[in-house]
Amino acid sequence: MNSAKSYIEENKDRFLNELIDLLKIPSISADPAYKKDVIAASELVKKRLQDAGCAHIEICETPGFPIVYGEKIIDKNLPTILVYGHYDVQPPDPLDLWNSPPFEPVIKKTEIHPQGAIFARGSCDDKGQMYMHVKAMEYMTKTNQLPCNVKFMIEGEEEVGSASLGWFLERNREKLANDVILISDTGMIAPDVPSITTGLRGLSYVEVEVTGSNRDLHSGLYGGAVANPINVLAKMIAALHDENNHITIPGFYDNVVELSKAERTKMAEAPFHLDNYKKALNIEAVYGEKGYTTNERNSIRPTLDVNGIWGGYTGEGAKTVIATKAFAKISMRLVPDQNWKEITELFTKHFESLAPKGVTVKVTPHHGGTAYVTPINSMEYRAAEKAYEATFGKTPIPQRSGGSIPIVALFEKELQSKSILMGFGLDSDAIHSPNEHFGIWNYLKGIETIPQFYHYFTEMSK
Ligand code: BES
Ligand code: MN
Ligand code: MN
Repeated sequence: MNSAKSYIEENKDRFLNELIDLLKIPSISADPAYKKDVIAASELVKKRLQDAGCAHIEICETPGFPIVYGEKIIDKNLPTILVYGHYDVQPPDPLDLWNSPPFEPVIKKTEIHPQGAIFARGSCDDKGQMYMHVKAMEYMTKTNQLPCNVKFMIEGEEEVGSASLGWFLERNREKLANDVILISDTGMIAPDVPSITTGLRGLSYVEVEVTGSNRDLHSGLYGGAVANPINVLAKMIAALHDENNHITIPGFYDNVVELSKAERTKMAEAPFHLDNYKKALNIEAVYGEKGYTTNERNSIRPTLDVNGIWGGYTGEGAKTVIATKAFAKISMRLVPDQNWKEITELFTKHFESLAPKGVTVKVTPHHGGTAYVTPINSMEYRAAEKAYEATFGKTPIPQRSGGSIPIVALFEKELQSKSILMGFGLDSDAIHSPNEHFGIWNYLKGIETIPQFYHYFTEMSK
């Protein structure tokens, strides 16, 4: 097949401007105040799929935000690739830490992105990466090189747990039938170290509430004599890890698949520089579960983290008070074969047991998801490998990621489909953080590499 290079070069500015238009829409799925914007983003994606050459496009209503569906079926006997991505984004807060407004995209050069990067919420996660697929589709249809059937499924609730996806899959098995699912919603090791994501962690996300007295109390009159829910919550949270940073929930590790020595040795071959890692984060030391390396801690090991904690007086100055309630949001990243519903129950039981007399505890589960691992000897993995070899001139390294895309395990369960995770973002792109950005080089390299996957996957399916 012809390289997409010259087409991309000629259309580069338009490709960037179209993405910038999409990035201007604050499609924050978590915040009901932005409902209209989320819908507006879905409509723009629909229009752009149409322009890119999809023949049949629709906005599918769900109990939550709509799913944009588009397809081009050229021959029933050819394989079908289903592209999944999301048009919703994380809330941009804290706003004061952004160097430019999150929904007014700007292009700036950075050390890691000498050709410039687009700074905006969603630039990397996932509008920029999703839009690479729309532009790759445009290239293939406009140059008559689409080698197989394509279906697009772009959702608007990924950042809030994809609650409607199970519902949608159950009702649309036929429509979504495919030979492989292609997703760009992860990362790669470095611009000169291409990698394919071969694993995602599962998730259990809960909120906890500790309640003490029936009203806020003067901390002089009552302090020391009754339980302070905030003190108690801090103690309970501290008790969730032991001195080796192992998680103390009984049964938590029971189903964890331990990697063999050989697998761990293989993993350690991937380039990783602890000094650069610490420097980039401005930390003196790393911290984590004893007996595991940094890369193991953030991919093949389960973790428990408090994502937010609040209660009591947090306003200006000092107020002497013992609040009635304290809260925290806690996430547990899970690995094969932990069952997130079971882990949520184990957490709840253990957390309740940690509460002293004098307080009550409520645990509310939010959402969850199952971990995923792909084999690297499958036809689809080899097709992806060849695609990277064609555009990077290097064999990509398989890498298990610490992030979660719960829908990937669901796709396998509901549609019996395998997913290929071709991520082009970098860990330093600050997804979910202030100043999220996506390298222009990465964006264009993705557009160039995706058609190669289509080509090799179709060839190898014959
Ligand atoms: N795209 C990310 C997940 C990701 C990022 C995986 C980088 C691997 C590498 C996705 O949008 C995300 O943020 N997922 C959430 C979970 C979801 C249920 C809210 C996550 O991982 O926190
Ligand atoms: Mn994402
Ligand atoms: Mn995300």
